[in-house]
Amino acid sequence: MAAQKYILGIESSCDDTSAAVLAGRTVLSNVTASQDIHREYGGVVPELASRAHQQNIVPVVDTALRRAGISANELSGIAYTRGPGLMGSLLVGGSFAKSMAQALNIPLYGVHHMQAHILAHLINEDNTSNPSFPFICLTVSGGHTQIVRINSPYDFELLGETIDDAAGEAFDKAAKVMGLPYPGGPIIDQLAQAGNPLAFQFGKPKIEGLNFSFSGLKTSFLYTIQKGKKKDPKFIDKHKSNLAASIQFTIIDVLMKKLHAAVKQSGIRQVAIAGGVSANSELRKQLQKHGSEHGWSTYIPPFSYCTDNGAMIAITGHYLSLQKKSDKIAETSLARWSM
Ligand code: KG4
Ligand code: ZN
Repeated sequence: MAAQKYILGIESSCDDTSAAVLAGRTVLSNVTASQDIHREYGGVVPELASRAHQQNIVPVVDTALRRAGISANELSGIAYTRGPGLMGSLLVGGSFAKSMAQALNIPLYGVHHMQAHILAHLINEDNTSNPSFPFICLTVSGGHTQIVRINSPYDFELLGETIDDAAGEAFDKAAKVMGLPYPGGPIIDQLAQAGNPLAFQFGKPKIEGLNFSFSGLKTSFLYTIQKGKKKDPKFIDKHKSNLAASIQFTIIDVLMKKLHAAVKQSGIRQVAIAGGVSANSELRKQLQKHGSEHGWSTYIPPFSYCTDNGAMIAITGHYLSLQKKSDKIAETSLARWSM
């Protein structure tokens, strides 16, 4: 019998330092250190992020190995986020992964962060089924909003993407205007539970095809707040839940309409969501609802694989290892990297 292959995945593209160990497609450990430091600045400060990655990376990788119950020299490969992301953050994970792979003399796999969010759907988990190929994925994070057709673990076709802000950014900026801390997405989600989604209307983008735009929506939200505050200084406090529910409803409505168009255009009825915003309770509900109404098979990631995590990097490394697609140690990190 062939020896079990263990892949270590390291994620450091933004403000989460994460490491995971997979045996094949099974997650043995997935450890994340989030960086609270950015909360007080209302967004990710790149300099502080890379410094925090430097502090976190050794203990995070150590813990991931310990929880998996293996030692570093049992690893058969190391996958790391090569891009896209913040350069200073990428370099910390990248140089750590490179030195470790070189010291252990094992293959190194440079992973595309957005492909990894999608391939998290191929992780072998109890009680969840994996999509088969081809499937459509709406990938919604703090930096990206894309609709992708996945033909195989190596073949991604970008069908549409945002031309300005990402969906997560729209959530975070709306939260910031309301005076909420970063990242605001999860707080909007919480507040919205008690609000009326139709209380406020905002101008919706008119973009052809499968592309998105969220910058106009952000401005429309800001005007609503400014107008409200002029009449009543306590406007935000009084309408917090309704504002949150209404902006969330509008963002999700835009996302779902494009997803419908993608299904119609491609004829593919296996539909997944991925990325940080796929943790949103209303988006998860809406995908299920639309799926059962229209006969789609829907795939929603467990919460631990929605926001940035090492497991999604390791599963992508697993597939790259099957094709022996390892990197040269000299390969550079890429702040921008197209699908
Ligand atoms: O994928 P991710 O962890 O990092 C990037 O690659 O950007 O996504 C982070 C984004 C942030 O904008 C955050 O506000 C959003 O995901 N997010 C949410 C929720 N949880 C995270 N947005 C709405 N509702 C949530 N429950
Ligand atoms: Zn991400």
